[in-house]
Amino acid sequence: MEDDGPDEPVQHHMTTISQHNFGVDSDEPDFSISIIENMKEDYGLFVWPCSIILAEYVWQQRLRFSGATVVEVLGNMRRVCDLNKLKCNVMGLTWGVWDSSIFSLQPKIILGADVLYESSAFDDLFATVTFLLQNSPGSIFITTYHNRSGHHLIEFLMVKWGLKCMKLLDGFSFLPSYKASVLSGNIQLVEIGLNS
Ligand SMILES: C[S@@+](CC[C@H](N)C(=O)[O-])C[C@H]1O[C@@H](n2cnc3c(N)ncnc32)[C@H](O)[C@@H]1O
Repeated sequence: MEDDGPDEPVQHHMTTISQHNFGVDSDEPDFSISIIENMKEDYGLFVWPCSIILAEYVWQQRLRFSGATVVEVLGNMRRVCDLNKLKCNVMGLTWGVWDSSIFSLQPKIILGADVLYESSAFDDLFATVTFLLQNSPGSIFITTYHNRSGHHLIEFLMVKWGLKCMKLLDGFSFLPSYKASVLSGNIQLVEIGLNS
């Protein structure tokens, strides 16, 4: 995700804080997190349906993620971490760009919600993901995306970059009904690993 830098001013007049609950009972959630959103920003400062689905997947499989090094990079995330009193190391990452920071990353899990939306950027994204997967044996890329035009391009790029699909789920298949009822679309969750 493109980094807006630690010291960039937030445009407060368009800023809202949304709360996201986890657990089967929406009235008595087991866990809740606050997210800063800003409607004036492009893309990154809005909670997209794909991120709600990916967050639910992470919640339901939370033991798997416990203590793991995870990549889901956001500039805004520093403020979200402060807001939720979480200690996280947050850094920027641009797909297809090999600056020094990427070489030190050895994630066990790479998370990307709604990062497969602009087909001209797919190759750069897969290049970065493949590098990270190679740099960290046994790691996995988990992403959710709107399946607007079938899987053909994604399948083609997985073959091209030596990757394989480990799991493919309908994003609505594991959502509690109180979340599914406010979302729409054909959203898929895929787990991708190295084909070796
Ligand atoms: C649709 S938003 C999804 C944001 C968030 N993951 C969510 O689900 O709410 C797509 C994100 O991809 C990021 N992005 C687009 N092109 C990028 C690139 N070349 N390198 C890094 N991030 C990029 C954008 O900055 C944006 O945050």
